[in-house]
Amino acid sequence: MKIIRSVDELRAYCNSERAAGHSIGLVPTMGALHDGHLSLVTKARGDNDIVVVSVFVNPTQFNNPEDLRTYPRTEEADCRLLESARVDAVFVPAVEEIYPEPDIRVFDLGPVAEVMEGKMRPGHFNGVAQIVSKLFAMVMPDRAYFGEKDFQQIAVIRRMVELERFQIEIVSCPICRESDGLALSSRNVRLTPQGREAAPSIHRVLSESIGYARDHSVKETANYVIDRINGTEGLETEYYMIVDGYTCQPIEDWDETDYPVGCVTVYAGDVRLIDNIKYQN
Ligand code: PAJ
Repeated sequence: MKIIRSVDELRAYCNSERAAGHSIGLVPTMGALHDGHLSLVTKARGDNDIVVVSVFVNPTQFNNPEDLRTYPRTEEADCRLLESARVDAVFVPAVEEIYPEPDIRVFDLGPVAEVMEGKMRPGHFNGVAQIVSKLFAMVMPDRAYFGEKDFQQIAVIRRMVELERFQIEIVSCPICRESDGLALSSRNVRLTPQGREAAPSIHRVLSESIGYARDHSVKETANYVIDRINGTEGLETEYYMIVDGYTCQPIEDWDETDYPVGCVTVYAGDVRLIDNIKYQN
């Protein structure tokens, strides 16, 4: 596996693979890799001749300096995992390599980026669009892989791709969970033992709400989820919103979409967890 640290080398490598007629799959990550990330790599491995993974803790998408400072960084372990997952190249740039000067681009992401995470974390999605658009321009992959755990992120990236006219297929991959239902996340290592014990109730409540939703309104279902999660000692819901999965806009009636998705963020102590669930319609 090639370990690439410079943009020029990354471009040269991808250009030569493309010239050889090889298809390229890109998996963007911020490292501290777990089986959720690896599921994206496995999917990319099956679909493409060449798999490139980026590992870069992107400062421009952190609206909280403390979160950026404490974000886990485990480069050596990450490279070992990627090597055993048969990745061809890992791109591990320094911050100055990606941002030799400040990125002042503002993307017109529209309504999809104005709700939920966009509202709670101002500037976050613009930062995601900045880094992902840079990676797309450098690698020019055929396909790029993203996890549904960050449900809204995928919608934002699709919007960015449309704006920038990238000819890249965005592949969304299902959420990987611990056996107790907790969505895998690099932030889980920061949970206290009590937080870790409480956290599985997020997915449990979301799953139970599917049955509840059959004979209750959108609003009642949302309240059910919030009350049940907040009723778990140590968990505090920041928001729960049931949205149209295509546009990420809130719905009031189940009939408004054939793709209703409930998106939640929950604090377990000072660790912010996100998860989501699809409702049948
Ligand atoms: P990061 O949080 O490292 O996640 C990288 C990719 O792994 C994202 O597409 C995310 O949705 C996916 N992922 C994380 N946990 C997952 C799980 N439990 N199941 C399935 N997929 C999972 O998301 C980012 O980094 C950044 O915003 C990035 C897109 C790399 C831009 O900096």
